[in-house]
Amino acid sequence: MKIFLDTANIDEIREAADWGILDGVTTNPTLVSREGRDFEQVLSEIVAIVQGPVSAEVVAEDADEMVRQGEHLASLNPHIVVKIPMLPEGLKALRRLSEKEIATNCTLIFNATQGLLAAKAGATYVSPFLGRLDDIGQDGMELIGQLVTIFDNYALNTEVLAASIRHPLHVVQAALRGADVCTMPHKVLRQIVKHPLTDIGIEQFTSDWQKLAAAGQKLAIGAT
Ligand code: E4P
Repeated sequence: MKIFLDTANIDEIREAADWGILDGVTTNPTLVSREGRDFEQVLSEIVAIVQGPVSAEVVAEDADEMVRQGEHLASLNPHIVVKIPMLPEGLKALRRLSEKEIATNCTLIFNATQGLLAAKAGATYVSPFLGRLDDIGQDGMELIGQLVTIFDNYALNTEVLAASIRHPLHVVQAALRGADVCTMPHKVLRQIVKHPLTDIGIEQFTSDWQKLAAAGQKLAIGAT
């Protein structure tokens, strides 16, 4: 499963990229507005760090304007993936962008039929929003499984991008259901790298190693 960061914050993206596990980034208008900076400047900084797919969302509700904005965003960098909201006009825009071989991510997917339609319209990715479904008492994870099965049934190339991730269990469950990508907030990425038993284990190893010094042994490994 590919790991994307769901943020427009450069420091967060740089940290995840430094770990060597970052495959891409998703942004949305809310995440970009939190940064209070020029959208295209932020995008150029993100693509310079990530060298992988970076979703940038259009802000229009008619197909012509979505396509115009999408073409512009895609022209900024080959890694830009144009994010299109799930609407009838969005389906038209997905089809037209896919005919121009521009990568797209259909966002705000809340049921399997929306995902199927987006895939049929040529979306590169569909983004089911797990957390927002869970928030209203529906099982977001079930939708991931449905989309993976449907795309497999019909050999559709569209990737299932698990979005609106709230906690580490969402990441595990998305991976078990076969999501192609999981995009998560920086907070969740930091949570999934940690375990209290890892910290206790490191503390124990370090303290035992120091006992060698107390016994007069040298501690430096590989030192000449
Ligand atoms: C996905 O691409 C969206 O940016 C995101 O996952 C939305 O998550 P939220 O429900 O936490 O806002």
